[in-house]
Amino acid sequence: MEEIKSNDYSIWLGEDLESKLNLKTYSKVAILVDENTKKYCLTLIPKFDSSIIIEISSGEKNKNLETCSLIWNKLLKNNFDKNSVIINLGGGLICDLGGFCASSFKRGIDYINLPTSLLAMVDASFGGKIGVNHNNYKNQIGLFKNPKQVIINHKFLSTLPNEEFYSAFGEIVKHALIGDLELWKILLKNKIQNLNIQDIISKSIQLKNAIILNDFNEKNERKKLNFGHTFGHAIESYYISKGTAILHGYAVLLGILCEIEISNLSMKEKVEISNYISNNFQLPDMPKKDKLFNFIKQDKKNFSERVNFSLLNGIGNCTVDNLFKINEL
Ligand SMILES: NC(=O)c1ccc[n+]([C@@H]2O[C@H](COP(=O)([O-])OP(=O)(O)OC[C@H]3O[C@@H](n4cnc5c(N)ncnc54)[C@H](O)[C@@H]3O)[C@@H](O)[C@H]2O)c1
Repeated sequence: MEEIKSNDYSIWLGEDLESKLNLKTYSKVAILVDENTKKYCLTLIPKFDSSIIIEISSGEKNKNLETCSLIWNKLLKNNFDKNSVIINLGGGLICDLGGFCASSFKRGIDYINLPTSLLAMVDASFGGKIGVNHNNYKNQIGLFKNPKQVIINHKFLSTLPNEEFYSAFGEIVKHALIGDLELWKILLKNKIQNLNIQDIISKSIQLKNAIILNDFNEKNERKKLNFGHTFGHAIESYYISKGTAILHGYAVLLGILCEIEISNLSMKEKVEISNYISNNFQLPDMPKKDKLFNFIKQDKKNFSERVNFSLLNGIGNCTVDNLFKINEL
């Protein structure tokens, strides 16, 4: 098993889940799944004593406080105490929502992430950002709290729908562009289906983890991870409000296409990035910019009515706190 040390927990990569999962100190265990991870992933993990399964419905429209309420009710009904734990077995949605439910239940119980989607493996399962959407706005209610452990087994990916696999490249491409030129070259050189996915997962985690170790509370360097996400979240919120949610990673790829336009890049670099994205992904339609402004105005990073972007200053180099008025976009 490869170990990547984060703040006060480890991210383990490999197939021997049982040897690393540490549940000895917990009174009760809840395994949070959705209908897909219940069907495809639950059978791949060991059975635990004193455990219950909590199933929620998949889909970004369910990443909200109503779903949290269902989870909290189940925990209460099953007498979960302060020493219990939630294991999040699923994609980024399960990790974000389960982490939030755990961290607010009885003022906080532990949670462990067993990510099953590629996006959760390379991004959402670690770093401690947890929360839910509210009134169609992305991730408006939440907090920072780290998981106790993250264990990544790429075997789960065998049942992941193709589209979900491709969508994860929104975050992988972002990681390459903001700080890993070597990863960017690997992406450019290889078709997605030919990539060594374990290596891509490991590289992607190491890039994000190094940033988080320097700036957990997002005062400075961690803001780099928001590249592509200001437009990306607005695009995602726009589609949620229309009742046709799009995949998060695809929203990020569309966001990257918008944000390279206002980045300090040469024409050659802009063309290299946009060609890579258009040649490798079939993305939903880009909404008209004026349809996005209401959502951008609610962005958590806004400062004094200015929109705060993290932008590229060349491929592999990202700058933070680039402020724009809405009418400058
Ligand atoms: N906290 C963070 O730092 C962070 C970072 C990036 C994204 N996110 C959040 O993550 C979410 C997106 O995550 P996602 O792309 O994993 O989506 P997701 O969690 O909605 O999962 C996508 C779909 O794949 C299914 N699935 C997952 N694993 C499977 C498997 N092994 N086999 C079969 N089906 C499987 C799920 O049931 C779901 O239908 C968004 O809500 C986004 O805001 C959080």
